[in-house]
Parts: sequence; structure tokens; C-alpha cells
Amino acid sequence: MTAAVTAPIIRLEAVSKTYDLPRAGARGAADRALNVVYDLSLDVQPREFVSIVGPSGCGKTTALFMLAGLREASAGRIEVCGRPPREAVRAGLSSVIFQQPVLFEWLTAEENVLLPLRMRDARWWAWPARRGRYLAAARRALETVELSGFEHYYPDALSGGMQQRVAIARALTLDPQVLLMDEPFGALDEITRDRMNLELIRLAEARGLTIVFVTHSIEEAVFLSDRVVVMSRGPSPATGSSVVRVLDVGLPHPRQLALKEEPAFFQKVREGREALRQTQGVA
Ligand SMILES: Nc1ncnc2c1ncn2[C@@H]1O[C@H](COP(=O)(O)OP(=O)(O)O)[C@@H](O)[C@H]1O
Ligand SMILES: [Mg+2]
Repeated sequence: MTAAVTAPIIRLEAVSKTYDLPRAGARGAADRALNVVYDLSLDVQPREFVSIVGPSGCGKTTALFMLAGLREASAGRIEVCGRPPREAVRAGLSSVIFQQPVLFEWLTAEENVLLPLRMRDARWWAWPARRGRYLAAARRALETVELSGFEHYYPDALSGGMQQRVAIARALTLDPQVLLMDEPFGALDEITRDRMNLELIRLAEARGLTIVFVTHSIEEAVFLSDRVVVMSRGPSPATGSSVVRVLDVGLPHPRQLALKEEPAFFQKVREGREALRQTQGVA
């Protein structure tokens, strides 16, 4: 049997991003441009898990925000689910999870999760009567992230990890195909982060998600991903692009924590570290 040939679900073609910065202290002087992402090309296949790693300030968030339609590319072309990024988000096909869980403090976990459905409902004035119809979906989403029983908690009564799980549940309510995650577990302790990683793997499998995941941890990237994209600040002299290297992880699925003790895992982490070192010119 031949493997099915699938079209990529995410395409970045020669994407660059330049921020225009006013020159500090020089009134009326010409703007200076900060070249953040340079000539980034990447195809992501459906159900693939791709991580982006790189030193702080290299443009990881910028790249992810372009995929989420939150920043415009200065050059190149981006498609998510066959559409411009912003349209994919509007259509509920892709969804973003930020570094800090963005929750509304005056809404309970359940109300936070219901929010995307509420905002999409054209008959918003009839919401109180229609809310019940959506409640089951919201509860299911909370159950998937193991938060049953916490539906009526306000964010400030939940731990950081639980808040991020509410944010993930909310991102799942519209049943997206693509999840875009910007260092979502960066603020968590190691044990909670491990647990969240395993939950994310399970979710991605169960829902057939395609994930682009930004992290500064090469271990986390190798553990979670099929491929790891190593980015540098500005064009790398070797590649002429922000992408220094794309690492094929090739470790078996489903990933379990025991994998982190395996020589094959160390080897991939070492390869990733070497590529990262190149981004800082310490080859
Ligand atoms: N809106 C913006 N305007 C100007 N410069 C920005 C803006 N957002 C980010 N930058 C700059 O772009 C660079 C890359 O930022 P970012 O994408 O947040 O990097 P990373 O997520 O890899 O740490 C940084 O130097 C940052 O200061
Ligand atoms: Mg960032």
C-alpha cells in the first residue's frame, strides 16, 4: 500500500517580518527597521506536531502570531487550512494559546470556555435562552482537560496550570484543526509541565490536531514533536534564512515520559542543542 499523499495544512512561503521602529530620541528622523523573521518557508502536514525553538527575541512569537493572523507578514505568503491566517481563526479552523492564559477574571471556568461560542452566535440577544444548548460542549471541553468539577471556579481560584487548561479547553470549543501555542507551559513547574505535555499529546491524538508549538526548551520540543524548527535572530549566515535547521525527531509514538531516559532521546536533544548553538555563533 502506498502512503496517502496529503496537502499541507499550513504553508509558509518565504515569509519575512520587519517591524518599523521610530529612532529613539531623534524626533522626525527616519524610521529604522527591525528584521525579525527572514525568508521562513515551512509546510506542516495534517496531524503533524511541529515545534519552533530559538533564542529569546529571535522572532518565535512573531512567527506564531503571523500564523494566527495577529501580525501581518511583510513579505511572503501564509496559508492555514487553505485560507489566509485570520480567516482560518475566524472560521474556527485554527486557534491560539498564549504564553499566559488569557482568561476573564469575572467569568467562571465554564463561562470562559463558552465565550467563543457566545461570540459566534449571531442571535446574541437570545443568548441566555440558548446558553444551555452549548453547555454540554463546554463541559466536554473542560472534561478533556481534566477540569470536571471546576466549572464554577473563577480563574483566581485556579492554579497556573489549571488556568492554562481552561484556556486550552476554550481553544477547543470550536473544534479547530490547528492549534498554535506560544510557550504555553513556560510558567509551570516541571512536574506540571510534564503532565500538561502528556495531556497535550493525548488531545492531539484524540482530536487529530495539527500543532505548531513555540518553546525555548529543546527537551520539550523533542519530546512533543515530529519536527523541530530551530530559528536564529535574523538571517543565519549559513542558511540565509531565520531557520537554521529543521530536525526530524523520528522517535516512536505515543510519547511517554520513559522516553526521556532513552539514548535516542538524548541524541536528538544534543542535535537540537548544536543547532541552537549555531544561532548564537558559538558553533
Ligand atoms: N510589535 C512590535 N514592534 C516592534 N518590535 C517588536 C514587536 N514585537 C516584537 N518585536 C521585536 O521583535 C523581536 C522578536 O520578538 P518575538 O517575536 O517576541 O521573539 P521571541 O518570541 O522569539 O522571544 C524582538 O527584538 C522584539 O523586541
Ligand atoms: Mg516569545
